[in-house]
Amino acid sequence: MSIPAQSDGGQAGGEGVAKASGAATLTKEAAPGEVLLKVTGLQKHFPIKKGLLQRQVGAVRAVDGLDFEVRAGETLGVVGESGCGKSTMGRLITRLLEPTAGQIEFEGKDITHLGVSGMRPMRRDVQMIFQDPYSSLNPRHTIGTIVGAPFRLQGVEPEGGIKKEVQRLLSVVGLNPEHYNRYPHEFSGGQRQRIGIARALALKPKLVVADEPVSALDVSIQAQVVNLLDDLQQELGLTYVIIAHDLSVVRHVSDRIAVMYLGKIVELADRDSLYKAPMHPYTKALMSAVPIPDPRRKNAKSERILLKGDVPSPIAPPSGCRFHTRCWKATEICRKTEPPLKELMPGQRVACHHPENFEDQAPQDTVLLSAAKEAAELVSEEALAKSAETSAAVAAAADEIAEAQAESNEPAKASSDDAEEPAESSADEAKKPAPASSDDAGEPAEASSDADADTHSEAETDSEADAGTAAPEGSDSDSRGGTDGDGESGGQESTDD
Ligand SMILES: Nc1ncnc2c1ncn2[C@@H]1O[C@H](COP(=O)(O)OP(=O)(O)OP(=O)(O)O)[C@@H](O)[C@H]1O
Ligand code: SF4
Ligand SMILES: [Mg+2]
Repeated sequence: MSIPAQSDGGQAGGEGVAKASGAATLTKEAAPGEVLLKVTGLQKHFPIKKGLLQRQVGAVRAVDGLDFEVRAGETLGVVGESGCGKSTMGRLITRLLEPTAGQIEFEGKDITHLGVSGMRPMRRDVQMIFQDPYSSLNPRHTIGTIVGAPFRLQGVEPEGGIKKEVQRLLSVVGLNPEHYNRYPHEFSGGQRQRIGIARALALKPKLVVADEPVSALDVSIQAQVVNLLDDLQQELGLTYVIIAHDLSVVRHVSDRIAVMYLGKIVELADRDSLYKAPMHPYTKALMSAVPIPDPRRKNAKSERILLKGDVPSPIAPPSGCRFHTRCWKATEICRKTEPPLKELMPGQRVACHHPENFEDQAPQDTVLLSAAKEAAELVSEEALAKSAETSAAVAAAADEIAEAQAESNEPAKASSDDAEEPAESSADEAKKPAPASSDDAGEPAEASSDADADTHSEAETDSEADAGTAAPEGSDSDSRGGTDGDGESGGQESTDD
């Protein structure tokens, strides 16, 4: 969908968009490209209760420390397997659910714990479109009543009256305004979703969170609804968070994409970088499952990566990197230390010790876990070879840079210089590593800057010392791994609460 330039908005925003200065800062009214919604360390743990006394015996960690921002005018796509927490995230940021921890800021205002009355004005600005157009519309109400409800709830009297405005909205979403008095069952799935969209747009929201808006629809209708959302964004300057498990839908609609796995974001990048050069093995696996009509990937079939097993339970997520029980690259550090979500390339944040298409972040850790060996059997030889080739190329480039720096006698400045470099490199080719060498534990702070630092300080407070940093992995401690049982037992370890 339309992408406003990050700092100098490319399209007219919605009504009353303030001209604010400064790049990507929080303002009263975010101008296109500026941060509209900021989420820090967001968690939602659903308690599991048992027995007569309903004592809490555990928790489903549906969302377990998310950090991201949504910029005015953009579409942020959110993907991930079923149960990874996408809908929970959507309900949290629209404040339909109360977060367990973390912070949500909308236009610079902390809305994390606003009550019903506090949220009332926000409800106009933040709306949600639900997945199932069959169950999300009250069958006993007419379309007029349904689409007009937000006006009544908010006590808003539109110019010309509610009926006239509702009819206008119906025509905006491509429905016949004459159908004002009809009931939901008289409409098809696609039409119902249009009704849901009309309702969401009634109060001219700034942010629309759409949870799988097209997945219940036929493919041909999906395209129509996606195009409608696109047109509305252009016309009304809307900002979207679109949740989908279908990567092709997300690719079509998104400017940036967040990939979720077991309650966490494992990669967040702009669409093109993510599709051209995914860095997280999970993203790569997700991508490889999607047939993409790209002539450069003639042999896409042979690159298909099959993931072993199901997603582990969010009640007892695996220790360290949550993907380590299914990842073909997992080593001991992955099992022990949670990788921080770190900006390895400009605009591309990834949480991985051994990323794809980039320099290895823990090159000293080379012994694969047994689960990884099994998982590797499911990855095509070709994909593995390509991955190893890229890592080697990036490592060689990193060495060259390090040597050049050593020669020019500027060791002290090495890491700070490099931090600048990725800014000019392109996602596919350059692979200029942010860190000159992966052994300087200090450097994560520079690449991922403050965002990551915050992230971990508040988001992972419950998850032991690993939250601090993945980079200073203490190479000697890796060899201790075996004693506490590896592989699947990782799950038990993290149920520390
Ligand atoms: N109200 C609830 N009480 C307890 N657990 C819940 C609740 N809502 C969601 N969960 C659990 O939280 C986890 C994340 O659920 P969520 O619906 O957010 O996943 P999702 O990514 O949207 O999945 P899907 O793609 O299937 O819609 C799941 O394990 C789910 O069972
Ligand atoms: S941190 Fe390790 S287990 Fe996790 S995705 Fe990266 S390589 Fe795989
Ligand atoms: Mg869902």
